[in-house]
Amino acid sequence: MTQGRFITFEGGEGAGKSTQVARLVDRLQARGVDVTRTREPGGSTGAEEIRNIALNGDAGRWSPLTETLLMFAARSDHLEKTIRPALDEGRWVVCDRFADSSRAYQGAGGGAPADFIESLDVAIVAHTQPDLTLIFDLPVEVGLERAFGRGLFETRFESKGLEFHRRLRERFLEIAKENSDRCVVIDATGDEETVAARVWAAVEGRLL
Ligand code: TYD
Repeated sequence: MTQGRFITFEGGEGAGKSTQVARLVDRLQARGVDVTRTREPGGSTGAEEIRNIALNGDAGRWSPLTETLLMFAARSDHLEKTIRPALDEGRWVVCDRFADSSRAYQGAGGGAPADFIESLDVAIVAHTQPDLTLIFDLPVEVGLERAFGRGLFETRFESKGLEFHRRLRERFLEIAKENSDRCVVIDATGDEETVAARVWAAVEGRLL
């Protein structure tokens, strides 16, 4: 059986990723593709438990190093229990956030050393790298306003300052440049339909 395809959605807060994940999954299913929709941190029973520990509590609860380990612990379980089994069955996996979020949030945002993150990526993600990563990009102020509109500070990260979120945006754009073979930047400004069309163009162009 052929391996499925692995698509990840990345970007800062309030970029509208989750809505677009749902729309892409529907559209792929309508084409007859078997799809597993998942998210990080989480996506398996153990990883969802780690998610609760990692995302709740005071903004400064974990050091960047500890936080990185929590994210990769969750990722390891998620890969073992959900992602690899699905890909091996030939299913496509669409994941809301993955390792680039660790590079941006724990690395650029929190200050965890890049080589520490890359060594974990080599050990844990290994050959299960995404076939396509969509990096949702929009001005930090617009994203935070959208995120806050949803209900104040859903996660510890939304409560961090503007500077933190600017570093995330810069890092995501840098990741896209450094990994142009797998990354496409999606302009996340505009209405849902417009952004969905950009997402579909990227998926069709790269994978279909
Ligand atoms: P979620 O509510 O799913 O946020 P969003 O809707 O913005 O995707 O919460 C996930 C949070 O976890 C988000 O603030 C980013 C953070 N995160 C990391 O810091 N590192 C990681 O490796 C991952 C996967 C997520």
